[in-house]
Amino acid sequence: MDFKKIDEQDLVFFRSVVGEEFVLTTPEGLAKYAKDETEDLRFPPEVVLKPANTDEISRIMRYCNERNIPVSPRAAGTGLSANSLCIYGGVMLTIERLNKIINIDEQNLQVTTEPGVITEQLQNAVKEKGLYYPPDPSSRGSSFIGGNVACNSGGPRAVKYGVVKDFVLNLEVVLANGDVIWTGANVLKNSTGYNFTQLFVGSEGTLGIVTRIVLKLVPHPQYTLVMLAPFPSMEQAAAAVAATFQAGIVPSCMEFMEREAIDWVCRWLGDVTIPIADDVRANLLIELDGNDLDVLYKESEQLYEVLTRFDCGEILFADSDAQKADLWRMRRNVANAVKTTAVTIEEDTVVPRYRLPELLTHIKAVGRKYNFRSVCYGHAGDGNVHVRIIKDELTDDQWKNEVPKGVREIFEKVVELGGTISGEHGIGWVQRRYMDVKFPAMQLDLMRGVKAVFDPKGILNPGKIF
Ligand code: LAC
Ligand code: ZN
Repeated sequence: MDFKKIDEQDLVFFRSVVGEEFVLTTPEGLAKYAKDETEDLRFPPEVVLKPANTDEISRIMRYCNERNIPVSPRAAGTGLSANSLCIYGGVMLTIERLNKIINIDEQNLQVTTEPGVITEQLQNAVKEKGLYYPPDPSSRGSSFIGGNVACNSGGPRAVKYGVVKDFVLNLEVVLANGDVIWTGANVLKNSTGYNFTQLFVGSEGTLGIVTRIVLKLVPHPQYTLVMLAPFPSMEQAAAAVAATFQAGIVPSCMEFMEREAIDWVCRWLGDVTIPIADDVRANLLIELDGNDLDVLYKESEQLYEVLTRFDCGEILFADSDAQKADLWRMRRNVANAVKTTAVTIEEDTVVPRYRLPELLTHIKAVGRKYNFRSVCYGHAGDGNVHVRIIKDELTDDQWKNEVPKGVREIFEKVVELGGTISGEHGIGWVQRRYMDVKFPAMQLDLMRGVKAVFDPKGILNPGKIF
């Protein structure tokens, strides 16, 4: 792509807009922004800009658009598909200083926030008012709500409450040419023209830069029951998931961890006290939530009946907040445990939930064919399985050239089963090469056409999605 390189004159302009201290050009400054949580990729930007508000972002975009300078927006850098890395250099525009919650509207059960607020802090702030923002990716302690919007994140509670898109009502967006729009309205129903709000959700910073977010909230449930259900095989655990919903039970979380995932995370954390029997091959971590404990206990009895049909072993009911926290710590740290101790890549498959057993069987068969081990875990209630593939003793050549063939075979199966190639991590830079598995060329051209309407010069987050 034919982008202009940044020169001294550009830096003078950027400093005049955001202030000297918020323009980074040193190798150390750039190095921090050259990576995210995806593998070990490094793409240093030419400059990092840290604007403070919509107006500064608008002025930067107008300037860069006129001069053909690429701009990649960045939230907290917790992306898992290289969603924000500066593949073509240029400007990395971080939204970290747009970090204020603007208004919690208790009358309408809504929150208006800037995009650089840490997701968990937003959740805690609304909880103080008795309100709940459920989408909770594992990175919620560090990821920004703006990044969650950009990737349409989900997390464990999506299964009952929905993913980010189900909570976004309205967005303020700076377009590629610097114009500023509000995409929708702060209302629960909206049938007014094309739905730009949902177009921007999950667009990974390729269509505009989100500068304000209006989210719907729900009342915070009072109680949770958390349990760990062991199974003799992955397939039985997976089959129990669809059966649970078919029985009319909607858990607030229904998470899957195969044995490898549990062993890995327990080794890595070192202090987990949850007993796991030797013959357990997979676990479901299940949470029920609500406002009436008697109802929850009754539901857990129904759930027990369903799970035992799939040879579930002795269920561990968390009997304290500490034990609940321990179970969740286990689940939320699977990815950290594997990726910090091995060379890996992660795929984010999603299928209709009743097809999960077939998907898991296929993933392992592909692993045997291409000689890779994988750790499968994730949001089984949503049919969303993360597949962390481990390099182990594979040569660099096998890792680079053979494993992607296996990934392609997994994705082909995913599509055959009625699913798709990313449930919540986005496409970014690393999954683009598989987009043809899901979409015909004509449909990818339609997407490129949409991109061209919003960003005719292709300066926003180039190299992503297509
Ligand atoms: C998780 C992240 C990796 O589910 O999506 O832990
Ligand atoms: Zn996940």
